[in-house]
Amino acid sequence: MKMRLFNRNLLLAGVAMATVLGLGLDASAQEVIKFSHGVAPDTPKGKAAEYFKKRAEEILGDKVKVEIYPNSQLFDDNKVLSAILRGDVQFGAPALGKLNKWTKKLQIFDLPFLFKDMDAVSCFQDSDKGRGLFNSMTDKGMLGVSYWHNGLKQLSANTPLREPTDAKGLKFRIQTSDVLAAQFEAVGAVPQKMAFAETYTALQTGVVDGQENTWSNMYSQKFYEVQKYTTESNHGLLDYMVITSDKWWKGLDPEMRAGLTQAMDDATKYGNDLAAELNMEQREKTLQSGETELVELTDAQFKDWQSAMKPVWDQFSGEIGQDLIDAAAACNK
Ligand code: LMR
Repeated sequence: MKMRLFNRNLLLAGVAMATVLGLGLDASAQEVIKFSHGVAPDTPKGKAAEYFKKRAEEILGDKVKVEIYPNSQLFDDNKVLSAILRGDVQFGAPALGKLNKWTKKLQIFDLPFLFKDMDAVSCFQDSDKGRGLFNSMTDKGMLGVSYWHNGLKQLSANTPLREPTDAKGLKFRIQTSDVLAAQFEAVGAVPQKMAFAETYTALQTGVVDGQENTWSNMYSQKFYEVQKYTTESNHGLLDYMVITSDKWWKGLDPEMRAGLTQAMDDATKYGNDLAAELNMEQREKTLQSGETELVELTDAQFKDWQSAMKPVWDQFSGEIGQDLIDAAAACNK
């Protein structure tokens, strides 16, 4: 009797707790999905993540709740994969170049001047070889589910970078990527791996002299306030892989997985179509600020950067695989 009373009290306490938390009694049926990323909401990745939430909740209704955590407020890109493996979050979308700790193959996307435009990037990402890379980290428990575009990177500094020799001796903030380190070393510059969120202060205080990123990332972080010149070099790619836990994903019930797959496909299409537009719009806003001067390269200057940086390919072809590099390069039509 005493035992029954105890159980009943426990049940009532549970109901009260669920009510207080606003969960309702069916809450156990709801999958709460956390998506952590490191950029502002008004960027290609920020907007694609919001669209994924919208579509997942439309398709799956009350069965799912997607929470987006932007601006590294939960985890930065270097911590998010371990968080996914622990089950603290379900999705992250680090820049491809930051994944070299987990697989050397994805270093391909950081090779300077590999893709001449975003059509070439899409061509490779949509190919069998490109999609095959979604499985390049399954031995570590992680699965890629989509590629999301940001765009091609530009260079900035407080001196105009017209020729590769202009970068000599300058310190550049880079993502945690060995290819990017080699790329700056190839022009005699000094690369410094640093978290995205620390970059503005590092530029402001002179810890580094320059950086490389897309127009949307530079605009959303206000780098133009602390960089007098921006060179439109389009010298490399900054794209993302949306990553989840292989075990969690394969353990979902089929209806949930199908709904999330559809939402992810819709978000990819939406975000990838939007990325170029957003980068162009934020390029204009950056230049309108009047705080950073645009440096446009002549064809000859562009070729000089290309010849200075391209030898990096040979340094990494063994780790990446020449077949992958050839397939990507063949997408430049
Ligand atoms: C960076 O660190 O510069 C980028 O990876 C940030 C991002 O997620 O676009």
